[in-house]
Amino acid sequence: MTKAIRIHANGGPEVMHWEDVPTPEPGPGEALVHHEAVGLNYIDVYFRTGLYKSQLPATLGMEGSGTIVALGAGVTDLEVGDRVAYAGGPIGAYATERVIAADRLVKLPDSIDFNTGAAMMLQGLTAQYLLRRTFPVQAGQTILVHAAAGGVGLILCQWAKHLGASVIGVVSTEAKADLARAHGADHVVIGHATLPAEVKRITGGAMVPVVYDSVGKDTFLTSLDCLAPLGMMVTFGNASGPVPPVDLGLLTAKGSLFVTRPTLATYTAKRADLVRGANELFDVVSSGAVAIRVNQTFPLSEAAAAHRALEARQTTGSTVLVP
Ligand SMILES: NC(=O)c1ccc[n+]([C@@H]2O[C@H](COP(=O)([O-])OP(=O)(O)OC[C@H]3O[C@@H](n4cnc5c(N)ncnc54)[C@H](OP(=O)(O)O)[C@@H]3O)[C@@H](O)[C@H]2O)c1
Repeated sequence: MTKAIRIHANGGPEVMHWEDVPTPEPGPGEALVHHEAVGLNYIDVYFRTGLYKSQLPATLGMEGSGTIVALGAGVTDLEVGDRVAYAGGPIGAYATERVIAADRLVKLPDSIDFNTGAAMMLQGLTAQYLLRRTFPVQAGQTILVHAAAGGVGLILCQWAKHLGASVIGVVSTEAKADLARAHGADHVVIGHATLPAEVKRITGGAMVPVVYDSVGKDTFLTSLDCLAPLGMMVTFGNASGPVPPVDLGLLTAKGSLFVTRPTLATYTAKRADLVRGANELFDVVSSGAVAIRVNQTFPLSEAAAAHRALEARQTTGSTVLVP
């Protein structure tokens, strides 16, 4: 048997239960991974509440690191004992052991410990595709990052700085402002009530070529007002709720804007893209350009407490669940 956090119904953190489940066996092309660490991500909340659908009962979680303990037939490029990490679906990471398609795994460099590996894969690969593929950020540009002291946020700030960009971060408290500044944000705005005016002042009226907005419903329209003509609105999360339908005429009126609603799943669907993204991520972390801040750890059995903290905006940086 193995242990897992499962839900039998959608709802609040109280629907998560620490249960015995049979240890799965890897089929062809699969690996059985013994988790050393599991990453906490906002998407886990969406699957718990039912905003994102899953078949019930379900084991939550999309990210982990650990050691391969068994391999199915046909897996040739991995061995039992390899240190590995992964990010993305299908859900099932909140478990001491899980089976996963071997082509979703990457080997963890020796320099990266298990906690860091579990913390960095989903949020770091997201930062990689957002900054390098969705809108390739260039040196000298000024960009806007919401939830700048969060898991994805702290990585975005540091990586954008490393690319030579200037970062305006948006956070909710003074303490988070200090943290964002310490991780590369050149300017920090607290709250979004006066955000377009602040962006106008900071950029001397030019506004920004890209906004990375993971807050969703509460900030979508404000973010559009921060963009320069032909700017790119990257709405990539729903922390405050999903963005309601938008009148496309707004994009015309606000300067021929572009909008995209990307997901990591698309950007890592091809193994070559996953490996390229992971290698870039490992490089910036190994070189010290990007530090992964595991600012909270919880026992995996207490994942509900981690969800409560994340939803109450009490976490900063990344959070790891330890089996
Ligand atoms: N599309 C993708 O590929 C992809 C991949 C990874 C993550 N994401 C998204 O990126 C976002 C960040 O993920 P994360 O795991 O790193 O979480 P996180 O940023 O560490 O936590 C969420 C943060 O959002 C801010 N926030 C603003 N309004 C909020 C509200 N009403 N309720 C709760 N939080 C609110 C809070 O920061 P302040 O207190 O500073 O406002 C909070 O700390 C999430 O929306 C997630 O879904 C998307």
